[in-house]
Amino acid sequence: MRTQVGIVGAGPAGLTLARLLEVAGIESVVIENRDRDYVEHRIRAGVLEQGTVELLREAGVGARMDREGIVHHGIHLQFEGERHHVPLSELADGRSIMIYGQTEVVKDLIAARLESGLPLLFEVDDVTVHDLQTELPRIRFTHDGAAQELECDVIAGCDGFHGVCRPSIPSGILRTFEREYPFGWLGILAQVAPSIDELVYAHNDRGFALLSLRSPELSRYYVQCRPDEDLAEWPDERIWEELQLRTGLAGWTLHEGPILEKGVTGMRSFVAEPMQHGRLFLAGDAAHIVPPTGAKGLNLAVSDVRILADALIDWYRSGTTAGLDGYSNACLRRVWRAEHFSWWMTSMLHKLGEDPFDLQLQLSQLRYVTSSQAAARSLAENYVGLTTL
Ligand code: APR
Ligand code: PHB
Repeated sequence: MRTQVGIVGAGPAGLTLARLLEVAGIESVVIENRDRDYVEHRIRAGVLEQGTVELLREAGVGARMDREGIVHHGIHLQFEGERHHVPLSELADGRSIMIYGQTEVVKDLIAARLESGLPLLFEVDDVTVHDLQTELPRIRFTHDGAAQELECDVIAGCDGFHGVCRPSIPSGILRTFEREYPFGWLGILAQVAPSIDELVYAHNDRGFALLSLRSPELSRYYVQCRPDEDLAEWPDERIWEELQLRTGLAGWTLHEGPILEKGVTGMRSFVAEPMQHGRLFLAGDAAHIVPPTGAKGLNLAVSDVRILADALIDWYRSGTTAGLDGYSNACLRRVWRAEHFSWWMTSMLHKLGEDPFDLQLQLSQLRYVTSSQAAARSLAENYVGLTTL
């Protein structure tokens, strides 16, 4: 088999890249090791920056998002028993965010790909990448029991944090940066209307909590927990009790409902540099991870593949390699901004331990971002997505 761009991984990064290339008339083959049902039902983040929304629309995959997504113009920060509104759009030149599950974005992209009749192979095994520093890199894999080899002009490593592409880069080339956090999030999807119209990020003595949503009927809630938390210790009643204690306010009710899904996610910051080795380009979680507090993971993946698609389009149209040569640096500027923002939101909002000095710093920072226009504006422009990077 031969294609122009071989894409490993059918998450948001791989699928969005495939779509952008399709629109530009560039061929690709997407290979994914999970089955379609798994990929379409994996619950992940749900906040799209305006730039992400615009890109999906321009790529012709925004119709259901525009019907079902919910535009938000602010968030709430809650601490010391009070809830403070941060009017994102007012602070960030009218820009807004869209609440639309990553799962839904993935479903829309898969549907569009299949409708175009373009190659997207699920349940491939034994994926390996070869000859990365030649003009004909190859992907080998097995599909339906048969060994396959795909010859490409370039390979896009969109296979997430645990994928095979990043580890295929010989040692000594990548520099990695990492921070693990001593906590995780226990997340639930509940069949109940959200109890408040915008997201609530709550700092609390018992630990952080987040109130989010997926639709007018589905709420998505999180509580800070241990990174290795055992779900068996969290019957539904305990989760609701903890959410009530961490987000409760006089005169306001958190409505409860049946819990449809439960899961624990660890928290980590990670960056691998450079995001390119020869003809292999890493994008999304394959190259970087952020803790979910800033809602940046999906948006970063989309911004990487936008840069990669533009560079590939230039290269195929005019032979110029400037975009491809600059790919890693262009992505990393934005990646590091999001790394800082996500680390900062995480550090400001979670229970870090028992150190009273840390606690006072957090509270001071929270008071500052909810009382100073300058500080609030900084949070807002990062949250809705910086346009100047
Ligand atoms: N071969 C083929 N596919 C693979 C392989 C492999 N060896 N290893 C992993 N994959 C697939 C995974 O099953 C997954 O579908 O690659 C895909 C990677 O997708 P994601 O992990 O969703 O990563 P990405 O597309 O970069 O999306 C950005 O940021 O914060 C997160 O939740 C956000 O998942 C989102 C991510
Ligand atoms: C979510 O809705 O899943 C969500 C929202 C905001 C975050 C993280 C996750 O910061």
